Amino acid sequence: MLADNRALGHVEFASVRQHKDAIRRVVTSREAHVRQHGLDLEFSLPGGNWTPDAHDFLVAYRHLLDGDSEITSRLRLYAQAFSGHQLLTMSPGCGKQSVNEIDEYYDDRLREILRVPSEWVARWRAIVAQCPDRFRFRPQPILGEVGWLVDGVIVNHDTYAYQERLNLLHESGLLTWLERREQRTGQVRILEIGGGYGALAAALKRAFPLSSYTICDLPESLLFSGCYLRVARPDCAHLTYETAQDVVAPQPFGFQYLPNFLFPALVGAGATYDLVVNTLSFSEMTAHQVRTYGEGISSLIGQGGVLFEQNQDNRHMGLCYCKDHLAESFPHRRTVRSRTVRQVENGITDLWSNFALDGTLGAQLDPTPAVDRISTGDRPLLRKQDVKGFNIVEIGGNFFALAQSIGPVDFHQTSEREWNEWIVAGRCFVGSSFEAAMAFASSQRKAGVEQAA
Ligand SMILES: C[S@@+](CC[C@H](N)C(=O)[O-])C[C@H]1O[C@@H](n2cnc3c(N)ncnc32)[C@H](O)[C@@H]1O
Repeated sequence: MLADNRALGHVEFASVRQHKDAIRRVVTSREAHVRQHGLDLEFSLPGGNWTPDAHDFLVAYRHLLDGDSEITSRLRLYAQAFSGHQLLTMSPGCGKQSVNEIDEYYDDRLREILRVPSEWVARWRAIVAQCPDRFRFRPQPILGEVGWLVDGVIVNHDTYAYQERLNLLHESGLLTWLERREQRTGQVRILEIGGGYGALAAALKRAFPLSSYTICDLPESLLFSGCYLRVARPDCAHLTYETAQDVVAPQPFGFQYLPNFLFPALVGAGATYDLVVNTLSFSEMTAHQVRTYGEGISSLIGQGGVLFEQNQDNRHMGLCYCKDHLAESFPHRRTVRSRTVRQVENGITDLWSNFALDGTLGAQLDPTPAVDRISTGDRPLLRKQDVKGFNIVEIGGNFFALAQSIGPVDFHQTSEREWNEWIVAGRCFVGSSFEAAMAFASSQRKAGVEQAA
């Protein structure tokens, strides 16, 4: 209910105001900035499905931009443009306006809506059971978030939608790979292009506390993601870029908001990223915009990073099929097959890279995967038994958390494929310290382990 939302304080509103002021300046000066600096007009201005003609989304943008603290604290109820679902009425947003009056009887009406069992709760339950707890999206009771409270999580269409993206990321093996990279290097860099209101960013930042997270989006959309994340994560640094001169390599640990027309400046700054994410948004851009992003991302991920994208073929709507254009920039493509998510509605998921991703992902992405470093002379040492159903085993300087449900493991006979299947299923963790393996096992719920088994 709205009545259960956390009240916001002065500090949060001050941070939101700062972001709003920056976005207002960026949008006001955008066209002049683009022309003055000789930037690519076709890439820089909103195009495809986001051309401004009579776009209801712009009404929501102005409502939030000019709105007082009460309007800001209901942000989620004006954000239907991103997921296509109207949270206010818990129904599809198609054909409905984004901005509606929210009166004092809203919670009473919502209570009636919530009495009816929801398709989204059932679908959410089915997929979330297949994803480790640390990769679950848990929207906070802020900014107008409402829904069914299930196992302590506010569930609505959008909770389901972003959990779908997380399940796919997890099943691709990327999240486990990124975790290992974070443990090894103490930092990971994530770039999301077209981040909507910031839901995936919030979930990934929770999963990767040491990440630096950049969202590149139309400034009008950055208004939403920046306000949302500044309130959701007041403990993090937030930087809203306004000009090409501001753009520097990703700042450690915080969030950066990059207006789309400054993307070439990010590429020019020599930034590098481990993971670039694009979901349901290349499919709404022009072919030229997709091609320009493809070229830039290829340079940003170099030989060490990966682009994860899920997009539909929108040629029937007069738009493009982004995969045709991404193929021009990346020599390697691997399609993610999911056991939990149907990819019919939202499109096929692909990983793109400059290096081969054949075989199992974990081993291919990490140049020195831990399981490869076990030599025949190494003997396993049981360091701790039954931590939430996992055994902690040390071998050859690696620390494993192994689900007991796997049964006895012969470290020298297990194939790369088996290791990766267990890792992807959350039944095995490999880290470089006892503490890391313990932290993984302790964060598991025994029920989840049994389910995986
Ligand atoms: C349908 S929403 C998808 C949001 C979210 N990624 C998801 O999976 O639900 C499309 C997103 O693409 C963004 N977008 C549209 N044109 C863009 C452009 N030229 N550059 C960057 N982002 C763009 C929109 O602002 C919006 O955030």
